[in-house]
Amino acid sequence: MANKIIIAIDGFSSCGKSTLAKALAVKLEYVFIDTGAMYRAIALYFLRNGISFDDNVAIENALTKIKLNFQYNTASQKSDMFLNGENVELLIREMKVSSKVSEVAAIAVVRDFAVAQQQAMGQAKGIVMDGRDIGTVVFPKAELKIFVTALPEIRANRRLLELQATNPAITLQEVAENLQHRDLIDSTREHSPLRQADDALVLDNSNISREAQFEIALNWAKERIALAN
Ligand code: DC
Repeated sequence: MANKIIIAIDGFSSCGKSTLAKALAVKLEYVFIDTGAMYRAIALYFLRNGISFDDNVAIENALTKIKLNFQYNTASQKSDMFLNGENVELLIREMKVSSKVSEVAAIAVVRDFAVAQQQAMGQAKGIVMDGRDIGTVVFPKAELKIFVTALPEIRANRRLLELQATNPAITLQEVAENLQHRDLIDSTREHSPLRQADDALVLDNSNISREAQFEIALNWAKERIALAN
């Protein structure tokens, strides 16, 4: 049987990382882990419970009360995020959470909490994990690291289409501003900022289809799986 590898996918917000990660996981029969969902669920807990983002004592105390787990959803072929037993998969995608999650993800103790769980999930390999620091911090020895990029205007338009399905009133400007805001915080924060790992392969999908992007990444994965044997 083929050896399993770890595939780390990083990049800016809304550039198609999750779509690619999910498709690779389905094809390779690997587990897909959307680490952004974990930060979003933590942000949701903080918002619901009025936890101030600069109160370290309250944050550490809150983290002891947060149980995160993923449960596979056969309809979507990916796992839903559960926060203390509640399926929050849809709630964590709302603007209320999106507009605050970068601030939560910048907090060192929050990152330590999430990263420890992510590393445990990857112990048996056979995973595709997407996020911002997967190839640099979570799995610096991942066999395949992909850094996904796309032009900002293309990303904003794609995200607008997704969000309009549940929120028809949302505007391109709102979406573009939220993306810029998140990218800025994600890439300039002190702890584990978003950056391309030195040994990552760059995949710019501005002008290629999802299918073409998938074929490129799948070929890379097959090469690395063969090398791991
Ligand atoms: O991928 P996403 O948009 O769902 O991520 C939500 C937020 O969490 C975003 O601001 C970046 C942050 N994040 C992070 O800092 N590290 C990760 N591994 C994944 C997401």
